[in-house]
Amino acid sequence: MTSVLRVEGGHPLIGTITVRGAKNFVPKAMVAALLGDTPSELRNVPLIRDVDVVSDLLGLHGVHVDFDQSRGVMCLEPTNVELARRSDIDALGGASRIPILFCGPLLHRLGEAFIPELGGCNIGGRPIDFHLEILRKFGANVEKRPDGIHISRPAEGLRGTVVDLPFPSVGATEQTLLTAVRAEGNTTLRGAAVEPEIMDLINVLQKMGAIIAVDTDRTIRVEGVDHLQGYRHTSLPDRIEAASWASAALATGGDIHVLGAHQPDMTTFLNTFRKVGGAFDIDSEGIRFYHPGGELKSIALETAVHPGFMTDWQQPLVVALTQASGLSIVHETVYENRFGFTKALRKMGAKIQVYKECLGSTPCRFGQRNFLHSAVISGPTPLHAADITVPDLRGGFSHLIAALAAEGTSNVAGIDVISRGYEHFLTKLRQLDARVEYSESVRA
Ligand code: EPZ
Repeated sequence: MTSVLRVEGGHPLIGTITVRGAKNFVPKAMVAALLGDTPSELRNVPLIRDVDVVSDLLGLHGVHVDFDQSRGVMCLEPTNVELARRSDIDALGGASRIPILFCGPLLHRLGEAFIPELGGCNIGGRPIDFHLEILRKFGANVEKRPDGIHISRPAEGLRGTVVDLPFPSVGATEQTLLTAVRAEGNTTLRGAAVEPEIMDLINVLQKMGAIIAVDTDRTIRVEGVDHLQGYRHTSLPDRIEAASWASAALATGGDIHVLGAHQPDMTTFLNTFRKVGGAFDIDSEGIRFYHPGGELKSIALETAVHPGFMTDWQQPLVVALTQASGLSIVHETVYENRFGFTKALRKMGAKIQVYKECLGSTPCRFGQRNFLHSAVISGPTPLHAADITVPDLRGGFSHLIAALAAEGTSNVAGIDVISRGYEHFLTKLRQLDARVEYSESVRA
């Protein structure tokens, strides 16, 4: 079955929506519950596919997960953790990258772990070399086999270590944290990611009894402890979803009040949004993003790790840049292949050219390696409707924004991908007066 959304574009998105817990935090906090000797409670949990996948995976490992979807409250009972059947894990393979973060907790609890085929958006190679190297440094035995990666704990248990990350990888930082908190002795992690989602995971681990310090030079120090208890925690809001709706307001000439949006997590996005010509009002409930009229202005933008402009904010904003006057330049420095979505935008009339050069002030890992990781966007260009297919999660939301901004009626196929990271997005579109019609057609 192919999910298709018919979108009648050319109408501004106007109204109020709510964003709940962050897609790139909640599943990690769920995995952290594996480390606790007692149950945990997580609040502000969104109803998204990534949460479902991790709930299922935890269930396969004997964790009882009770999720009150309407209240967004999840209880996790990890007392009877057990090894899952491989066939069951394989069935969930390819659905997410989160399974790799089960390794540390399972090695502590059961002495072994298995990594199935991982999922995640097709925006680059998505290697896991940092993760495997980190687990080896803790003393784990990592064995790559044809069916997946088998990992086992040494007889003397996992021991604290020193990790120097070649790049501030979010996943590798999480891998280190989830393993170090119960390892014997101290762990030093240098070159760590310090995104708000990482800091909220540290909040959770500290509530469980962990001892973690974060220095200003991206060094994280962990003192291993013997036992951790369950936590009660409310997730930070999803700053990527909030920024996606903000970009949709700009691209459609709309006005969207995003309840739950949190200014401190979005400082860099708000600066860029203002420089492009967007306006925002911050109140106690969230942030109102709107197009104040007049021209949008082109900009030169470079994505970076926190506190820079987040790579996941880039794709939705590029659609708004097609409506800005002049030439905008975007240099994507986190992923090597994150402009695939621009093909559909060009089909709708956008003038976007991609380059293998680093078109930004700082040369990045992808310069001169034939990765098309810089883009030049010329605007404003009127977008016209087209039949398009969603390539990945954030690119998919960008396609949705483009269809909403374009004149005419577009058919956006594969729209269900968006439910991986955007809770109730069809309901929210209707709350914003979008003229959309969802259908499922048998694959042609
Ligand atoms: C997380 O992915 C997020 N996903 C991504 O969001 C986000 O874009 C990314 O962090 C960067 O902020 C989740 O949290 C589920 P990385 P992750 O490890 O952890 C390289 C979305 O749409 N690398 O920080 O997989 C990697 O190739 C998604 O919500 C290695 O080389 O990202 C990339 O170039 C997309 N070896 C860079 O590091 C490794 O072992 C950053 O990746 C691991 C990563």
